[in-house]
Amino acid sequence: MKVTIIGVGGLGQALASGLLEAGTDIDLTICARRPGGLEPFAGRARLLFDTRDAVDDADVVVLAVKPKGTPELLQHLASALPSDAVVVSCAAGVSLARLEGHEVVARAMPNIGAQARASTTALCFGPGCLLSRDRPRLTQVFAAVGSVREVGDESQLHVVTAVGASGPAFVLLACEALADAAVEQGLSRNEALAWSRAAVVAAAARLGNDGDNIEPQVIRSLVTSPAGTTAAGLAALETHTVRAAFADAVRAATRRSRELAVP
Ligand SMILES: NC(=O)c1ccc[n+]([C@@H]2O[C@H](COP(=O)([O-])OP(=O)(O)OC[C@H]3O[C@@H](n4cnc5c(N)ncnc54)[C@H](OP(=O)(O)O)[C@@H]3O)[C@@H](O)[C@H]2O)c1
Repeated sequence: MKVTIIGVGGLGQALASGLLEAGTDIDLTICARRPGGLEPFAGRARLLFDTRDAVDDADVVVLAVKPKGTPELLQHLASALPSDAVVVSCAAGVSLARLEGHEVVARAMPNIGAQARASTTALCFGPGCLLSRDRPRLTQVFAAVGSVREVGDESQLHVVTAVGASGPAFVLLACEALADAAVEQGLSRNEALAWSRAAVVAAAARLGNDGDNIEPQVIRSLVTSPAGTTAAGLAALETHTVRAAFADAVRAATRRSRELAVP
């Protein structure tokens, strides 16, 4: 399968690295505007600067440029795309209805886990999607960098983006704050970071992945003995209305996604 990724920023680079490391039978073309982004892929994929050349024999085209530039890019590509090319947009907030020129059959919302092949990618198929042909192709592309979760209702992609794509940054902020707090309690910066990272890794490992269905509070209760250290720490967190802070973060990210949807 011939896959072209257009745009080699944070996401395009993670996706391209994940696809190459996954060692699938995907024949990859990567298209950037500047040489810098392409250098890490020299000798491992077809590298091009001309977007129209990059798509002219593609089976799947992944649009990984900024939301603002995505509709214009698609218009520019339209007459160069093979009629049966499966085009997927990763642009946050840009609805399928705003993408004209060539049918964009789906929106994908991967996350930062893509580089470590640990993304859970939301895939939302539009009305133009031929499920028997397009779904397996797109699932193969995004499964190469983790797992795929279908979202049936496009309007839910706003909150899915807030939790699934922005959410890892919220968890990383918690990791950073844990390390800062440990420094305050006397650990060196390196030790503090090592232990805060260990805490996040342990929690993630116990939580498992999609298929495990374990609720976080069940795991949390296992380490919260009565009158113990974890109970004391959790009680302190609750006095700072940490849940309200997360609710605000998800609300703000969802709202921002909706704002981006308006041209
Ligand atoms: N980052 C994430 O984790 C993530 C997750 C889910 C969805 N997304 C979505 O994925 C898209 C990309 O996000 P990002 O974080 O990777 O953005 P980014 O870091 O700004 O990368 C966009 C890249 O696209 C390049 N580009 C723009 N127009 C181009 C063109 N016509 N031809 C070739 N390359 C072009 C830019 O090049 P220049 O540097 O030359 O401008 C830049 O390298 C966005 O729409 C975002 O909403 C991102």
